[in-house]
Amino acid sequence: MSRFYITTPIYYVNDVPHIGHAYTTVLVDAFARWHNLLGEETFMLTGTDEHGLKIARTAEENGVTPLDQADSTSVRFRDAWEQLGIRNDDFIRTTEPRHHAAVQALMQKVYDNGWIYSDTYEGLYCVSCEAYYTEDELNDGNCKVHDKPAEQMREENYFFKLSAFADQLLDYFENTPGVVQPEGYRNEVLGLLRQELRDVSISRSSIDWGIPVPWDDDHVFYVWYDALINYVTAVGYGADPERFDEWWPSVHHVLGKDIIRFHCVFWPAMLLAAGITDLPTYYVHGWLLIGGEKMSKSKLNSVSPAQLIDGDEDQGYASFGVDGFRYHFLRDPAFGPDSDFSYESMISRYNTDLANQFGNLLQRVITVTGKKCGETSPAPNPDASLGALAAVAVEETTAAWARAQPPIALDATWRLIRETNEYLAANEPWKMEPGAAVDAVMGDALEALRIACILAEPAIPNGAQTAWERIGLPGRVADQRIPDDTAWGGYPGGLTLQAGDPLYPRLKG
Ligand code: ME8
Ligand code: MG
Repeated sequence: MSRFYITTPIYYVNDVPHIGHAYTTVLVDAFARWHNLLGEETFMLTGTDEHGLKIARTAEENGVTPLDQADSTSVRFRDAWEQLGIRNDDFIRTTEPRHHAAVQALMQKVYDNGWIYSDTYEGLYCVSCEAYYTEDELNDGNCKVHDKPAEQMREENYFFKLSAFADQLLDYFENTPGVVQPEGYRNEVLGLLRQELRDVSISRSSIDWGIPVPWDDDHVFYVWYDALINYVTAVGYGADPERFDEWWPSVHHVLGKDIIRFHCVFWPAMLLAAGITDLPTYYVHGWLLIGGEKMSKSKLNSVSPAQLIDGDEDQGYASFGVDGFRYHFLRDPAFGPDSDFSYESMISRYNTDLANQFGNLLQRVITVTGKKCGETSPAPNPDASLGALAAVAVEETTAAWARAQPPIALDATWRLIRETNEYLAANEPWKMEPGAAVDAVMGDALEALRIACILAEPAIPNGAQTAWERIGLPGRVADQRIPDDTAWGGYPGGLTLQAGDPLYPRLKG
């Protein structure tokens, strides 16, 4: 069986979950759900990054131990993802014993293979990035990401011979189709690899909040080298070789463009150094920024997912629900470039696509079928005009997910929903007398809606399931398989429909 292993970055526990983290996590969940619908065995991983100077300092500021800081914040990420309907198969914390064991095993291997040496390091360090920079990588001494001064640091460090892997990495990123999507970020990686690669420092002796270096316990690993290894820990590296071999070759890392260098340069080099020759593929997204009117005074990282899911009266935010939140972040920001998050476009997207299209279609289909088609529902026609449109929707939706373009995929899915509403508007079944003609129209509309529920499930898992049940279908929409179950004609007819409240009540702007 083909497998699909997909990861989010593990988030730092100095910050609480905000809509930037939620954006990545929803994307990853939707990719996993899509691949599951394709019949692949999927494994979705997320978690928290808990070591390093940044966490130690945050804990100190809060007057707690680093582990307390990590415990209390990690659980907030876990809860936020549960609230968002994220179906992660595992949640990893870098303070867990299994992770310590995997880090030590992997790094020992790299050391034994001769890729690590000791030296003194002196340089400018940004604590927020947990990274050294050269003078010309800074803006007047300030880190370009955080706009804060980098600090002068001097340490006895272990170094990784990154430079030895430049050619192998270039070959991998040049010759592997689709290795980084969208393509623009692959070019960015190639640009990084074509510069001179300096060896990188991988340990710290100045702090102790980290995983001890197994061959020298005066040192802990630099937080990034500990963190990246989470991706192999979770599939059994060093503990369960069979499981590791099953899952690792299918790994896909999803990340924001801020952490490309770590994921696409340092990490694959480290894997090669440890003797792991299957390298990851990557989906890289851009930065969400605050735009629009309502939020002009807020910062993106001050908005929590819960404020938009449940609503927030003080801020004047409506309740978008889980589906409304997920749908907006999957449908609106183009995957790749930076984009403005705006409350106004979130409202209008919800009202247009969820209330007026999906919700309205369900409501109409159930009302009209109930009034005109007798006790149970009619079946679709084998050669319906809507059948051809559904086939196009399945094909285009599938192609866009494969190119890691959720907005384009959902656009194709929603075209079918719109076309079905238009089909009803054109035929006006509510004006027809009961009989074969109205049965034909409604059977086709029910079938189009059934297919749309499957295609939309990764974005709106709750509404898709509710609609599935209201049109009388048994089981779970998430258990359907594409393309078999999205072939025209699967709606059996003869089912009992259930009326209900509007699925997505309109929201006020
Ligand atoms: O970098 N727009 O963790 P982090 C889009 N621990 N995405 C955003 C975002 C925004 N405004 N803000 C955050 C770390 N993100 C390391 C990762 S992985 C081995 C270690 C998302 O808490 C985006 O995915 O700073 C970004 O890459 C990630 O959160 C950074 O999370
Ligand atoms: Mg960050």
